[in-house]
Amino acid sequence: MDIRIEKTTNPKQKPADETKLGFGHIFTDHMFIMDYDEGQGWHDARIVPYGPVELMPSAMVLHYGQEIFEGLKAYRTPTGDIQFFRPEENFKRMNVSAERLVIPKIDEKDALQALHTLVEVDKDWVPHIDGASLYIRPFIFATDPFLGVRPGDHYYFMIIMSPSGAYYSTGINPVNIYVETNYVRAVRGGMGFTKTGGNYAASLAGQDEAHKQNYSQVLWLDGVERKYIEEVGAMNIMFVIDGEVVTPSLQGSILSGITRKSALELCRKWGLKVSERRITIQEVADAYDAGKLDEVFGTGTAAVVSPVGHLKWGDKVMEIGGGKIGAITQRLYDTMTGMQYGKIPDDMGWIEKL
Ligand code: PLP
Ligand code: COI
Repeated sequence: MDIRIEKTTNPKQKPADETKLGFGHIFTDHMFIMDYDEGQGWHDARIVPYGPVELMPSAMVLHYGQEIFEGLKAYRTPTGDIQFFRPEENFKRMNVSAERLVIPKIDEKDALQALHTLVEVDKDWVPHIDGASLYIRPFIFATDPFLGVRPGDHYYFMIIMSPSGAYYSTGINPVNIYVETNYVRAVRGGMGFTKTGGNYAASLAGQDEAHKQNYSQVLWLDGVERKYIEEVGAMNIMFVIDGEVVTPSLQGSILSGITRKSALELCRKWGLKVSERRITIQEVADAYDAGKLDEVFGTGTAAVVSPVGHLKWGDKVMEIGGGKIGAITQRLYDTMTGMQYGKIPDDMGWIEKL
């Protein structure tokens, strides 16, 4: 694929203090954009200065939400090299989302080329300190100026990038999570397994309620029986019950997380007992009461591996591991971030160098 590059004549000041990046506030100098037009396919790949996109008020995405996205990171190693963690998985999943939302698929090799070229152009924006990285957001949306409900004939595929620190302001410290019993996020047959804006829109009311009660994220239950555990707002969830790592199986309503998949592969390699199955919130509460809920943690690109300190279900507040990070959580965190930041060898074949 040919990518035209137009460099900015007005580069921005890079953040002076990388300990204060936060998440998703600052954007690099350039972005990738490519058009899709029915009959012509994907075309006109280009990297241009970061800035507004032209969109009609009637653009279909603004009305019916035909949009998908991904999230991945570029990491800087101690020797200054830049690398990615399983980036091909993100574009594979993007095409899974595309199919569900009737969005034209992208060529995964072209998308990887776009990723590499854009990061190369903006490589000085990849943070230098531990725990900070360049968060990368590929996304596709329908641009047709039309108010009828149908799949679009015109799309943009874009990639923007944001130097970021920890997703949660608590960093690696335990997050407090609230089990949502009123709202649901997704149901089987819906779009829960995709990364589309609508899933996140559906989650906002619950998240708002959680914040009011001083909880940082929502743990969703299944939309039918309201008892099986699904996932958290921006991460998958895992429990260590009596030494066994248990996580909800993929049944169409939750995202197939790349961090989830990697964590499970590591746990299996380490000889831990791992099970992907349906698990109810009652089972978790019973394990807690029996003193067998050893660890709870979330996994996600933005969140990495996040220990859960408190889990609130109705009136019941479970304090996990005395509010401290558990051994498996810590080992997963150290191993994954070690590989990502090039501090330990990648014996899984997960790292892709820029
Ligand atoms: N679940 C949801 C709803 C998410 O937004 C994310 C973040 O991408 C995840 C899970 C974790 O997925 P991954 O590990 O691929 O980042
Ligand atoms: C990610 O982890 O990449 C995500 O997309 C989470 C996001 C909703 C902030």
